[in-house]
Amino acid sequence: MCGIVGYVGPRPALDVVVEGLRRLEYRGYDSAGVAIVGDNELQIAKKAGRIENLDKLIASESATRAITGNTGMGHTRWATHGAPNDRNAHPHLDASGRIAVVHNGIIENFSALRAELESAGVEFVSETDTETVAHLVAAHLTAHGGSLADATRAVARRLQGAFTLVLLDAEQPEVVVAARRNSPLVLGVGYGETFLGSDVAAFIEYTREAVELGQDQVVEIRRDGYTITGFDGTPVTGRPFHIDWDLAAAEKGGFDYFMLKEMQEQPGAVRDTLLGHLVDGQIMLDEQRLDRQDLREIDKVFIVACGTAYHAGLIGKQAIEHWTRIPVEVEMASEFRYRDPVLSRQTLVVAISQSGETADTLEAVRHAREQNAKVLSICNTNGAQIPRESDAVLYTHAGPEIGVAATKTFVAQVAAVELVGLALAQARGTKYGDEITTEFDALCAVPDQISAALAAMEPVRELAREIASAKAILFIGRHVGYPVALEGALKLKELAYMHAEGFAAGELKHGPIALIEDGLPVVVVMPSPTGRPVLHQKMLSNVAEIKARGARTIVIAEAGDAAAREHADHLIEVPALPTLMSPFVTTIPLQVLAAEIALARGCDIDKPRNLAKSVTVE
Ligand code: M6R
Repeated sequence: MCGIVGYVGPRPALDVVVEGLRRLEYRGYDSAGVAIVGDNELQIAKKAGRIENLDKLIASESATRAITGNTGMGHTRWATHGAPNDRNAHPHLDASGRIAVVHNGIIENFSALRAELESAGVEFVSETDTETVAHLVAAHLTAHGGSLADATRAVARRLQGAFTLVLLDAEQPEVVVAARRNSPLVLGVGYGETFLGSDVAAFIEYTREAVELGQDQVVEIRRDGYTITGFDGTPVTGRPFHIDWDLAAAEKGGFDYFMLKEMQEQPGAVRDTLLGHLVDGQIMLDEQRLDRQDLREIDKVFIVACGTAYHAGLIGKQAIEHWTRIPVEVEMASEFRYRDPVLSRQTLVVAISQSGETADTLEAVRHAREQNAKVLSICNTNGAQIPRESDAVLYTHAGPEIGVAATKTFVAQVAAVELVGLALAQARGTKYGDEITTEFDALCAVPDQISAALAAMEPVRELAREIASAKAILFIGRHVGYPVALEGALKLKELAYMHAEGFAAGELKHGPIALIEDGLPVVVVMPSPTGRPVLHQKMLSNVAEIKARGARTIVIAEAGDAAAREHADHLIEVPALPTLMSPFVTTIPLQVLAAEIALARGCDIDKPRNLAKSVTVE
């Protein structure tokens, strides 16, 4: 949510900033704006809607005012306070036009601050919480002088809530200053130029050297480097890291949409996530601040996550319970901390988050740690807040995922959570070493099967076009097929704006079967006839029941499942895999179905309406 770019260097700042905003588009936004300092003057352009609208505005005004300068910042806004219109778009200025601010997050005490400023005669031009910061910083500079960084620190100390703030001062044109609490921001270090970004995609074109910023820190960037302090002015050293992917990974590579490219990258995402995690017969995590004894003592696991990551968690539960016999509960992170879950030192909370920024998941992690539980996070973003606040981390190596719909990160999360299951089984001795190796090897065979599934998707695309005008589609599954059904329904909702629901097939008779009517497409995720024969039989009965009531059945079944063929109006075969690994392939046709239906309905599958890639507000 919200994208932020900052730049100081020799290049035209406008180009760097607008290009950076484009690379952050996937985060979700509804207006965009830039501020550039040139000749000791702030030049602002901002516009509701897509970045193209901002481009047009800048182009249309270029004859009368060219935006030039080498220091600047930009913002894509996902509206929280105030409608997504031109006036509320960022940057915001103080009354004199000296200070410009962009902001990601929510300033919770903004009403009190606004009232204080209004009683001092300040007139606000927007409805945003952000504008208060511009006025406060300007007032501080007028009263106390000093640097923009000094004023930012003083104001940041007064703010409550979550914020990344980036500021420009027309009178200090060689610096950009940022403050960070609970909202993402990273620093990029080039030769004679320095960058800020909500994530590294903002500056990957120019440098792969980055620096993590911590909580409650202020950073000043200059051409020759940067200075980080706490809000109290104490110097701080940031943690440098090298970005292990490049510009090509963040581009479409010949596909019309990032999502289509990312779906094809799924075999690599799983392969890279597994790589190097079995060493001398031992499952290794990436960062381990827990010792083996801590893992041995775990007697309860909670998995907390949102959306697609939650579905990966539901699959992980089956694997962890099966391999370790430790009870596992999977909770939506947004519910977890508000219901007072029973946690202890022996509880392991596994937080799954692609971005590592999701506010609900981050707060769940904090709640767990306050209650002395151990936290292990599964994350796709190096240096993000959730892994930094965790006791142990396992990174998914899916590379950047730009499409809002999670695809390759989902399969990578399933691989990672299954690795966690094996690590726990190993620590607790519920599996012998050779059994761990066998399961790990089975996981390593998955990428080839995903490739095989992807190669056989043409009939699914055709089917998608046939059913694209359906009113609704239902998805049913059992055991690990149930979270796959939920994920299929989520993909369809978010991409095609179509009513879709996922159900545990056994629940149909308890209500949802009333939804079945003539011609309603129902996607069935079939259990394996050999891996789960009992469930397979039960599912055949469920399919017969809905077919008898007119449903058009689309059955996803293991290759060679003859019984499934008899019940299917459309049969989609996927490679056979052990039950706990079957979601890696059963999920593929559901992704393809959702993407193709959405495209047939004219939807932008990379940027679905109303959605942000990472949800950084609760
Ligand atoms: O970054 P996270 O994994 O924490 O994001 C969680 C959800 O917002 C995310 O999985 C969302 O549901 C997907 N975009 C759905 O495709």
